[in-house]
Amino acid sequence: MSRLIIVSNRVAPISEGGPAAGGLAVGVYDALKETGGMWFGWSGDVLSSGQPQIKVEERGPVTFATIALMRRDYDQYYRGFSNATLWPAFHYRADLLHYDRHDFEGYCRVNAWLAQQLVPLLREEDVIWVHDYHLIPFAQALRAAGVKNRIGFFLHIPFPASQVLLAVPPHRELVEALCSFDLLGFQTAPDLRAFCDYIVNEANGTVDASSGGPLAIHAFGHTLHAAAYPIGVYPDEIAELAKAGERGKPVRTMKATLHSRKLIMSVDRLDYSKGLVERFRAFERLLEHATAQRNKVSFLQIAPPTRADLHAYQDIRLQLEGESGRINGRFAELDWTPILYIHKQYERSVLAALFRTAHVGYVTPLRDGMNLVAKEYVSAQDPENPGVLVLSRFAGAAQELDGALIVNPVDIDGMADALARALDMPLAERQARHRDMMAQLRENNVSVWRDNFMRDLQSASGATRTRGGRARAASGKKTAREVLVS
Ligand code: G6P
Repeated sequence: MSRLIIVSNRVAPISEGGPAAGGLAVGVYDALKETGGMWFGWSGDVLSSGQPQIKVEERGPVTFATIALMRRDYDQYYRGFSNATLWPAFHYRADLLHYDRHDFEGYCRVNAWLAQQLVPLLREEDVIWVHDYHLIPFAQALRAAGVKNRIGFFLHIPFPASQVLLAVPPHRELVEALCSFDLLGFQTAPDLRAFCDYIVNEANGTVDASSGGPLAIHAFGHTLHAAAYPIGVYPDEIAELAKAGERGKPVRTMKATLHSRKLIMSVDRLDYSKGLVERFRAFERLLEHATAQRNKVSFLQIAPPTRADLHAYQDIRLQLEGESGRINGRFAELDWTPILYIHKQYERSVLAALFRTAHVGYVTPLRDGMNLVAKEYVSAQDPENPGVLVLSRFAGAAQELDGALIVNPVDIDGMADALARALDMPLAERQARHRDMMAQLRENNVSVWRDNFMRDLQSASGATRTRGGRARAASGKKTAREVLVS
């Protein structure tokens, strides 16, 4: 059997009290702990001098191979091009996009360097699965180093519409680099559609849907495959964790603080893509209009720090601290603080237990690739007395979880209405919605995500690795638009 090699910038597990893990670390760790394999990526350390060395550690069935970054590489590749250019652009925040040509050069240089570090660890039968926007040029770099293994790529964040992607100066180089992978995976059909739109309308490529499986893409002299693979969770494992934590200290403390008030709960990295300010304002609007809810409901926002050395993240932190102080000042009573805002990371088991006590899971990003918190919140509920998920239509999870109350995250009144409806929803409706969503989560759990991707990567490779310039149109070939609208 082939060995699975996962490559990502961030490597799990991440400890309590440290920076926020994010969906990649959580989802990939769940997928890998079952099959075993190797996980290669950044150690999280930044060196000012010396030479980074790979550290290999065995933990159960997973071998972790990690390496530090030099300060300049961290600045250009991670802080710069990945998080100041790609992250805002891919989350439709072209207004926050910062571009520096040297950062892009650093990004390509670090990809090439990381690829060279990985090469000696590879075996012939390995299948390589690269994750996320930090590593778009990774397959190109591995191929340049002579690697012939199958290489797939999964994008955890949204793929933006062409008109937004065009704002990133090296957009063409990026899409061309993506075309060096054998298989591309996106979170949702709209992301796949956006990619195909670029291929057809900006890169003069073609998209062929005739196989019925992943789309065959012909562009930049490559043939590759692409499909949507929505990442999942293990819902029953989370339900067990949540149940086990029900009588634990964090839940007891939270309940003591709440007295018998209802709880609205959110957990997000403190990121401007998460819609936190709008979310706080919608909670304020609820208190303003639904006066009966005052002193009857509390809102717990856990927002652990992330990328705190970037200005945009310092700004959102200040903004949120200002908003929570202002709203609490406006509505608090001697015995009630409406918003409990916590700026640190908790263990997944603690979060699962807290989710189970929350009457409303409030997940309203402005844009999000998937948002596993939405899936974890649903999984953690007591089926006899479940809470209600209020979910942004712009989270990938909204494509699957139609038992949620779907909201537009910039519509403050609409979100306040949804909160009021969630708080008062009758038991039978809550149970029915929860049942539907659990069925969906079980059907598409994280093993299904991994297995579907790996199955397609095994079969996609043959065609992709026979390079023969631009592939000719197959009969039944359609344009991306024809394929994806149908
Ligand atoms: C998102 C990204 C991940 C990233 C995570 C945490 O989930 O998709 O690639 O690891 O955020 O961000 P960080 O910059 O701390 O790795």
